[in-house]
Amino acid sequence: MRVLFFSARPYDRRSFAAANGRHELVFTETRLSAQTAGLAASYPAICTFVNDRLDAETLAALAAGGLRYVALRCAGFNQVDLRAAERLGIEVARVPAYSPYAVAEYAVGLLLTLNRKFHRAYNRVRENNFLLDGLEGFDLHGKTVGVVGAGRIGAVFANIMLGFGCRVLVHDPHSDDAALRAAGAQFVGLDTLLAQAQIVSLHCPLTPETHHLIDAAALARMQHGAMLINTSRGGLLDTAAVVGALKSGRLGALGLDVYEQEGDLFFEDLSSTIVEDDVFQRLLTFPNVVVTGHQAFFTQEALAAIARTTLVNLDDFAAGRPCPNRLTAAALLR
Ligand code: NAI
Repeated sequence: MRVLFFSARPYDRRSFAAANGRHELVFTETRLSAQTAGLAASYPAICTFVNDRLDAETLAALAAGGLRYVALRCAGFNQVDLRAAERLGIEVARVPAYSPYAVAEYAVGLLLTLNRKFHRAYNRVRENNFLLDGLEGFDLHGKTVGVVGAGRIGAVFANIMLGFGCRVLVHDPHSDDAALRAAGAQFVGLDTLLAQAQIVSLHCPLTPETHHLIDAAALARMQHGAMLINTSRGGLLDTAAVVGALKSGRLGALGLDVYEQEGDLFFEDLSSTIVEDDVFQRLLTFPNVVVTGHQAFFTQEALAAIARTTLVNLDDFAAGRPCPNRLTAAALLR
């Protein structure tokens, strides 16, 4: 099948070329939007990534060009209007799991960086400044870590934290993972988690229910000086409220791999342009904030698994077989 890949980077070409042998893959670096949907005219299928827009307007333009299939090469699907896709007869599939270790380990990396100040130490030593002032951290052993979302990634993250000797509190209204409980994690309500955890890490999807899950009220319930890690989706945080909590000291450290308005920024080299997003720019001024550009998934194993599963999803569609990774509007209710 002919498939047009939007937002394709060189590493996408490499990983898909290594796993392919049966589909005709065409790559463009262009991001998908209503304005660029015309590029897909006459393609039966496209493949998109996290910041490609698949809203009703874009999907209608794609359907008008004859599109019948969208292969998401990612797990999250908050960027897709699934109801509109269903209405237009466009099938959508995703890669529900590729490497939970990639994201969970990355969240731990952000946590350790913020705690032990690797980011500051790295710069200091390069300037022959060997002072330790300001680099003090704390032992993770014995601290309480809150994990919001006990799915594939949250469970791996929780187990790593248990390995550090932390007390792990988990909140997940839709899951009660017996293995995680047996490993020593406690399932609690969100309020209890926020009140007791020194470190909170978010691993739930972005849905209407979780939009701005961490807002001013939630921040007010957190421990003074707590650390917040978000490797899930930017929309889980009310970023303006988070900036306020950083200014007041309520939030002691913030690690982000995702940002609510990242579609305008991430996966591009903007080093020679003026970034107009004042909230984002303000975040970068805090010494106790580390922001990265949606790279938690970015390991060799994850890229290979994403390519493999996406191509199998395409095989299923081409053969008219039911696909276990197909997304329906009903998925929004889960
Ligand atoms: P998953 O579907 O295995 O687990 C998500 C869990 O969140 C489920 O157990 C679900 O019950 C729970 N959940 C749903 N609503 C909740 C709520 N209101 N409060 C607490 N928990 C809730 O998904 P997985 O694979 O663990 O991925 C989690 C998220 O990580 C994805 O939705 C995606 O947004 C993000 N992600 C980020 C990546 C990155 O590169 N930064 C890469 C891959 C995923």
